[in-house]
Amino acid sequence: MGTIAITGSASGIGAATRALVEARGERVIGIDRRDAEVVVDLADADGRAEALALVLEQCGGVLDGLVTSAGVGPPFDPTQMLVINWFGTEVFLSGLRPALAASPGVARVVAVSSNSTTTTPSIPDTLVDACLALDQAGAASVLAELGDAAMFYAYAGSKMAVARYVRRNAPTADWAGAGIRLNAIAPGATLTPLLQSGLDDATFGPAIRDFPVPTGGFGTPEQIGAWIDAMLSPMADFLCGSVIFVDGGTDALVRPDAWPATYSF
Ligand code: NAI
Repeated sequence: MGTIAITGSASGIGAATRALVEARGERVIGIDRRDAEVVVDLADADGRAEALALVLEQCGGVLDGLVTSAGVGPPFDPTQMLVINWFGTEVFLSGLRPALAASPGVARVVAVSSNSTTTTPSIPDTLVDACLALDQAGAASVLAELGDAAMFYAYAGSKMAVARYVRRNAPTADWAGAGIRLNAIAPGATLTPLLQSGLDDATFGPAIRDFPVPTGGFGTPEQIGAWIDAMLSPMADFLCGSVIFVDGGTDALVRPDAWPATYSF
């Protein structure tokens, strides 16, 4: 049995994952604003650095798994949302990598992205690039130019940065070569407090309800947690750099031929 750090462990998908992981006897270091081993506001840069140090202290520099589930969704201040969802994820992915590499067995990481990555049209590459360059001021200035659309793009852009980080890093010597399996899950609309706050909003509620889900209804946090739990298990040891869509078919409906994409030399 090992030690697994989970951000966003107090609610929704993170809490469902925590319950499943603990049921198999793993030790969990939860990271959240409340009800967690490490209590932090991920919107705050000093708080993020302090939380990273506390996780490293609590795990003794050796970690067997990581799930980055902390996040917020619309309606929310766009810049704050981008900071929590991306910078509050990257700090643990990059900062805990050495501890994951120190695991005596295979370490497994699941970053929570979203199907908003592929179902939101025209996410500005400049936004995603600024995130990946850790240029918070640059990302904020891109958002400032987007007007009313900033809230959608802050969410989808932060989740695209998460997916790209996973794709770019997973197969490298520092990750796969260091015995770490890095993958992402891209949930669709899942009934959690985050989605409920969107449903309760006069603007976002109708848009969320009108968004097509071929299977019908919303996912449950337990369904998504079960996939994450599998991605933390030996079943996932040949899984590397995958972005697993669990979204009731929305991505396939919206962009059937976009992936797998052909390419030419
Ligand atoms: P949730 O609201 O139930 O859980 C999110 C957790 O993140 C909460 O425990 C919250 O306290 C924590 N958190 C939020 N802001 C924080 C901050 N500043 N500092 C520390 N912790 C903070 O939401 P849910 O739905 O379980 O979300 C989990 C992840 O799944 C998020 O990254 C979200 O973007 C992603 N996701 C959710 C979907 C949905 O429809 N529910 C769809 C696709 C992705």
